[in-house]
Amino acid sequence: MDRADLITALSSAIAAAPTGESAMQQAVRLLKDAVPYYTWVGIYVVEGDELVLGPFIGKPSPHMRIPLGQGICGAAATAKATIVVDDVNADARYLACSIETKSEIVVPIMRGDTVLGEIDIDSDQAAAFGPADRALLEPVAAMLAERLEEE
Ligand code: SME
Repeated sequence: MDRADLITALSSAIAAAPTGESAMQQAVRLLKDAVPYYTWVGIYVVEGDELVLGPFIGKPSPHMRIPLGQGICGAAATAKATIVVDDVNADARYLACSIETKSEIVVPIMRGDTVLGEIDIDSDQAAAFGPADRALLEPVAAMLAERLEEE
């Protein structure tokens, strides 16, 4: 599936999902299945001053709850902007999920100025994420923002 078809499939699935939880599950599944170098795909949801892990596919993460100030996930929520890390082991903010992970992208799910959650993707390939991944994931985050509740 090319990226345009994938965005169309994501848009349909997210809009048609019966609940926000289901929309997140379907987005995670479509992204994980479509992109071979997406090793771990998950969505964190903001609850109070923490990011709480929602649907994910990949190894279980030790980081089920991340304070908003910690990790690359916390940094993206604080910056309200996408963060790409080419080499996680060279980034002091990084909270390790799997020893095999080499690179990571975190895309905030925003409604207006409010961060509702984030899409977090790890890759076992170094420097796996580039402009094409932002161009895929930032629209998906906007679609998910329509389906998530504000805390
Ligand atoms: N690496 C993230 C933590 C989440 S796990 O990768 C699933 C971080 O540094 O915030």
